[in-house]
Amino acid sequence: MVATNLAIVLFLTSLHYSYTLNKILLVQSPPEIVKQPPSGEILFEVRTSEESEYEKPLILECEALGEPNPSYYWTKNGKPFIWQKEDGRILQQPGRGTLIFTKTSDEDAGQYQCFAENYLGVATSNSVFMSKFYLKSFKHAPPRYLSGAEAAPYFVVEPESVNTTEHETVEFHCKADGFPEPQITWIYNGKPLEIASPNLRRKIESNRVVIENLNKSDIGIYGCNASNLLGYVYKDVYVNLLELAPEAAELSNYVEAVYGKDIVLPCNVYGVPKPKIEWIRNSTGLNVGRYKILDSGYLHISSVLYEDTGNYNCHAENKFGNIDVSAVLTVKEPTKIVNGPENYTTIAGSSATFRCDVVLD
Ligand SMILES: *[C@@H]1O[C@H](CO)[C@@H](O)[C@H](O)[C@H]1NC(C)=O
Ligand SMILES: *[C@@H]1O[C@H](CO)[C@@H](O)[C@H](O)[C@H]1NC(C)=O
Ligand SMILES: *[C@@H]1O[C@H](CO)[C@@H](O)[C@H](O)[C@H]1NC(C)=O
Ligand SMILES: *[C@@H]1O[C@H](CO)[C@@H](O)[C@H](O)[C@H]1NC(C)=O
Ligand SMILES: *[C@@H]1O[C@H](CO)[C@@H](O)[C@H](O)[C@H]1NC(C)=O
Repeated sequence: MVATNLAIVLFLTSLHYSYTLNKILLVQSPPEIVKQPPSGEILFEVRTSEESEYEKPLILECEALGEPNPSYYWTKNGKPFIWQKEDGRILQQPGRGTLIFTKTSDEDAGQYQCFAENYLGVATSNSVFMSKFYLKSFKHAPPRYLSGAEAAPYFVVEPESVNTTEHETVEFHCKADGFPEPQITWIYNGKPLEIASPNLRRKIESNRVVIENLNKSDIGIYGCNASNLLGYVYKDVYVNLLELAPEAAELSNYVEAVYGKDIVLPCNVYGVPKPKIEWIRNSTGLNVGRYKILDSGYLHISSVLYEDTGNYNCHAENKFGNIDVSAVLTVKEPTKIVNGPENYTTIAGSSATFRCDVVLD
């Protein structure tokens, strides 16, 4: 046991050694979660058999970026969750951690968490509690006979603070689930929004507040309170009026990628209002096919090809100005290890020599 562990450690150390010798062959990064289940709780329906044709799949998302590509595993109630053992009801999306429950069952209730791992590290998703409710019970029994179906409110969509600028429009969204269905109240500077000073530019709907043509009198703290008999959840957010032309942390970025892998080209810009981002290569806008502009403004390229090598331009613009950030992408052949180090058991403190030849493009 000790010998095996030692062999693994020495193997990694020798690999790392050859990489530094060759001045970093790969841009490697620890996993970073980009899609995950909501924190808190999700309800799933368990239907009685005569309704099984309406079965809806339940999806627990989990996706991470990282190089090498992360591998995924899940825990349920703190123990490893072996989804393969669930009679084929549960599938994992190839190359991702996302679990698809094609059919839910009573035993699926529990606390789930996803882990994405490569040798540089482990990233952990939100921990989510899946609890069941019976659809049939809702139809035929008054709520007070339900047991285990009541749920205190929890956010499905939370409002977010905004930095924006005069004359713009802001929207706050707030959605909560629970049983009985939560009531949403909007608060402005500590008072219910309905009784705050009347404002024709402001529209209140249950899940949404829209304020058009913002002016300085709209600055303040807005809160969403979702409550039912069992409790409430509350979040407050602010509106700030600023005027800021886009600024960039770096004006150029150099990225090396390995053929066939997914990568992300950075574009770190900030401005108020939030700048619109366009990615351009050779006078062509990129946001189709293998190219996707993420909410962060970064460009995600799936399955990088050799012809993706070259210059990219990220153009960020708002009404106060614009800025261009360039990214230079180099696509490399996957590194092949032709002569991996052999297992070598040694005594701590003595020296060991390894062979590890790396073929470069
Ligand atoms: C708004 O601007 C302030 C100050 O510039 C900054 O600290 C804050 O993070 C910004 N908030 C958002 C939501 O961008
Ligand atoms: C801002 O909006 C409020 C309410 O709609 C209005 O009374 C006020 O005159 C506006 N101020 C400016 C500077 O437009
Ligand atoms: C949210 O609403 C509930 C029910 O009306 C109330 O008891 C609670 O104090 C409110 N919370 C906040 C932070 O306003
Ligand atoms: C850019 O466009 C020119 C003219 O259409 C073309 O000859 C060239 O191959 C393109 N370069 C890239 C990298 O797509
Ligand atoms: C090194 O040891 C591992 C685990 O004992 C074994 O699976 C592997 O085949 C060995 N490799 C070589 C090159 O002997």
